[in-house]
Formats: sequence, structure tokens, C-alpha cells
Amino acid sequence: MSSSSGSGNFSRRNFLATSAASTMTVTMLDRARAQSAQGPAPAAGDVVPFNLRVNGLERKFGADARTMLLDALREHLGLTGTKKGCDHGQCGACTVLVDGRRVLSCLSLALSVQGADVVTIEGIAGENGELHPMQQAFIDHDAFQCGYCTPGQIMSAIGCVNEGHANSDAAIREYMSGNLCRCAAYPNIVDAINQAKAGMKDT
Ligand code: FES
Ligand code: FES
Repeated sequence: MSSSSGSGNFSRRNFLATSAASTMTVTMLDRARAQSAQGPAPAAGDVVPFNLRVNGLERKFGADARTMLLDALREHLGLTGTKKGCDHGQCGACTVLVDGRRVLSCLSLALSVQGADVVTIEGIAGENGELHPMQQAFIDHDAFQCGYCTPGQIMSAIGCVNEGHANSDAAIREYMSGNLCRCAAYPNIVDAINQAKAGMKDT
């Protein structure tokens, strides 16, 4: 499968990047309005308190107000399953779910997801450690080689199924086109998603 499918038409990668940028802009405008009523905005480098809900747990820490969600997860919360590939919204390795929707965490300010439910690859297995159907399907179908893209692929695949965009191989390829795999495991990823979608409930 081409990693650039959707060129000239709808592209999930462009959609995600545009959505993230729009969300960030709206959130920053709202925050700026609120801050203008409350006092000056934090200066670059100022440490501010964060309270994020990640994988069902409230997590508090202090960090630069400009901290991106990806860095908050990896550097401040120790959740290194979410990978940093390009850090520019182009590879999908950093995909997590925010209120059930796929988000590129490298493009999302951590402050913008306060109050939301963030789910990472560490949070999708069952309480007793049983694998999520998508994790099991990736194993069953050998849907990875080096594995670097895999957490992002799995989170995006869960989102793809829950959005109702996994009804055909073509739809899966299109709606997974924002997740690149340098090992080119694409056919096996499609097979894995086809297996997992039958047994999935919303994550
Ligand atoms: S690391 Fe976020 S899209 Fe590549
Ligand atoms: S499994 Fe190696 S980059 Fe996807």
C-alpha cells in the first residue's frame, strides 16, 4: 500500500494534522481569553501544574506550559510506549486516543487535553493483562517487524474500527494512511484489523 494514499483527495494524515492545528488554535485562543481576565500568560520556560487523566488515572506533574502531549507522556509520566517518530505530525507513531478519537500527540499541547480521557498503548489491555483484540491480532498476523510504529498503528487501528472506517480493505488502507511503517508491514496490518474488528468493543 502506498503510504501517501489520499493525495489530492481526503487524507487522514492531513485531516489529523488540520484537526490538531485547529483544536490547538481554538484552545489557545480560549486560554488566552481566560488568561487576559486572570493575569499574564505563563512565560516561556515557566513551570505550570498539569493534571491529566491517562489510562483512567489522574496524573499530576509540573512542566513548561508549552509541553506537548507526547513529551508529557514519555518524559513526565514514563509512558514510553507512545513513540516519537517525526515529531512533526507526519508518521503517526505518536497516535493516542483522546476522548476516543485519534490524536497525534506530537501536535497536541498537553494543556489542551486536561479534563479529557487520554488512552495510550499501555492502557488498552484488560484488567487481568489479557491483550486487547487488536494487540492479539497484530501478533497473530505478524503485523510488525521492528515494532517502532506498532503502538501508533494499534491505537490508530482501534480508532479506525470504532469510527466505522474498517468496512473494507480499501477503507482500512485509506483511514490508516496517516500511520507509516518503514518495514512495510501494511498487508499484515490490514489483515490484523480485519480480524480484530469482529471482537472489538469501544476502547
Ligand atoms: S511523531 Fe507524531 S506524527 Fe510522527
Ligand atoms: S514495524 Fe518497523 S516501522 Fe513498522
